[in-house]
Amino acid sequence: MSDKPLLVTCGLPYTNGSCHIGHLRTYVPADFYVRYMRRAGEEVVFVCGSDNHGTPVVISAEQNGTTPRELCERYHHHFDETFRRMHISFDHFGMTDAESNHRRTQSLVSRLIERGYIYPMIVSQSYCPCCSRFLPDRYVEGICPHCGAVARGDECDQGCGQHLEPGEIKDPVCKICGTKAESRDQEHYFFKLSEFGDFLLEYLPHLRGTSNARNYALGWVKEGLRDWCITRTLDWGVRFPGHEDLVVYVWVDAPIGYITFTEEYAAETGDDWKRYWCGDDTRVTHFIGGDIVYHHCIFWPALLKAAGYGVPHAVVASGMVKIDEKTFSKSRGYVVWTNEDYLDQGLSPDYLRYYLLSYTSHTKELNFSWKVFQERANNELVGTLGNFMYRTLLFAYKEFGGVPEGSVSPEIFGEIRACIDAVDRDMRAYEFKSAIDTMMALASFGNTYIQQHAPWKLVRDDPAAAASVIRDCLQIVQALVILFEPVIPGIAQEAWEMLGNAGAANVSGVSDALTEITARTLPKPAPLFEKLDDDKIAELEKRLEIRVEEAKMKEAGMKEAGMEISIDDLSRVELRTGRILSAEPVQGSKKLLRFEVDIGGEVRQIVGGVAEFYTPDDLIGKDVVVVANLRAAKIFGVESRGMLLAAGDEASLLVPLRPVTPGTRIR
Ligand code: 2FM
Ligand code: ZN
Repeated sequence: MSDKPLLVTCGLPYTNGSCHIGHLRTYVPADFYVRYMRRAGEEVVFVCGSDNHGTPVVISAEQNGTTPRELCERYHHHFDETFRRMHISFDHFGMTDAESNHRRTQSLVSRLIERGYIYPMIVSQSYCPCCSRFLPDRYVEGICPHCGAVARGDECDQGCGQHLEPGEIKDPVCKICGTKAESRDQEHYFFKLSEFGDFLLEYLPHLRGTSNARNYALGWVKEGLRDWCITRTLDWGVRFPGHEDLVVYVWVDAPIGYITFTEEYAAETGDDWKRYWCGDDTRVTHFIGGDIVYHHCIFWPALLKAAGYGVPHAVVASGMVKIDEKTFSKSRGYVVWTNEDYLDQGLSPDYLRYYLLSYTSHTKELNFSWKVFQERANNELVGTLGNFMYRTLLFAYKEFGGVPEGSVSPEIFGEIRACIDAVDRDMRAYEFKSAIDTMMALASFGNTYIQQHAPWKLVRDDPAAAASVIRDCLQIVQALVILFEPVIPGIAQEAWEMLGNAGAANVSGVSDALTEITARTLPKPAPLFEKLDDDKIAELEKRLEIRVEEAKMKEAGMKEAGMEISIDDLSRVELRTGRILSAEPVQGSKKLLRFEVDIGGEVRQIVGGVAEFYTPDDLIGKDVVVVANLRAAKIFGVESRGMLLAAGDEASLLVPLRPVTPGTRIR
């Protein structure tokens, strides 16, 4: 154990929308880790806050007819409150718009300027002639220059995930009014990220946390780093020192918020924030979503290094969330809101915590479905853990009025010790699912043990033997309550009290699981978990279904209202039948196939995202429908000249019903 305190942070939620299950995929594991490490004897501080700046917030405020500050306060309180409801207990939850964060950001940026890491450069930027303004970040939409997907101004969010620098996006369009953007020159300030390649190549292999974060980041550094534009033309944000018309890019002041929140926490508690952030051996551990690895493993350590702070010790990146196999999407209705869809429906925060932590490995994609949620809760929490704890407590209460006198068998201590050791190894390796599986295996062991020794049979003829069995089982219950508290804190507290303890369950350390349980009277126990019944689950599924339907109707309505086209418009799209001559996977992509398609007197190379649904052999020789006059684009480095038409989420390819000659024009 280190004598340096552990500082754990979570990616800061933007204050422009409500908390959903995608957020929880990061915050619940972080909270679990913090609770566990405390019980393992570590000094841990857990800070987070809301991310108030940047275009996500400004655009939402504009759309909601309010000010950015008002919107930030509203959502700041929303997140703070929701985290409490989910038993996510930050020691401090700040705001990046707080005066303290403006100060810390300006001081850090000024230090970078003094040290020569920032320089001005004239850059060509997207500008909307209709709105008469520059279009930073999410004000602009266009085509990713790297992969050809539709992208936001600062990020290829639907394609390759790469960060985009101002002016890089192709075919930019103003997100507010839909006008084609122009390019205009403007002076901006750049951070010399390209000077940090060697530092990162040295630093990243030792970065702790999950391998997905480390490996992606190393790959990007090896591809080469470009200097990073760190200013934006916006009113809302932290002023770039010495320039009234510029603010710093949100990805500068947001991570600096991690330092500010530590400072604020330290000021409240009489601690010193430098203990956490200065020196060569920090224990700063960032929990983040897998989509912001670049920012945390490349920009952020380089900024800290340049400004003379310590660099993060670990980055733990969670996999993305899908809903019923569909990509998470608020606009398409594939979303589960933490409050309205879950907590307000009377469901226990602890069930969701358990599900999120145990469903799949932390770094993998999590496919949420109400059915699987029900199965996991009913089989594991109710059937295994709850069943063992309740039957043990009830038997002890009924037959002995509490924990009977005597000692616990060495075999039981052996089981508990093995469990604790395995859990500890997993937790320090950020293998949360594996840790919980090990805990649950102890509950299964308890069930087998009580079943095999059947104290209810022994109790009449040999009460001492029955007492010995139930004492062993109570020792296991005590261990389970201590181990599971970081997972299901609310229910663990109830169980703790049913074990005859006063005070908070979370004060005991993991090693207390091995303290022999003492004789005591026990209160009458009550079942700790309740089954989720089919009707409730059907109701929750229905809510989701309705939301998806409503989103579809809204989209269809928008199309009808705003997108009427004339017959001339239609005739500009050159649709032809084509015959697939060859098909093969695109290297490095799970989703793409490269086709050669005969479109009548010409063979076209076309790339299509259908590899998940067809093998090349399924398609060779098939006649399909091709958009023949689509502008060529490079997709994963392969030129695509045209598009195959397909319907639905599983890309059902459109085909002519009767045989036609390849290249036949569609009218
Ligand atoms: O991607 C996001 O939602 C950002 N608001 C995360 C910021 S994390 C940090 F660096 F501040
Ligand atoms: Zn891209």
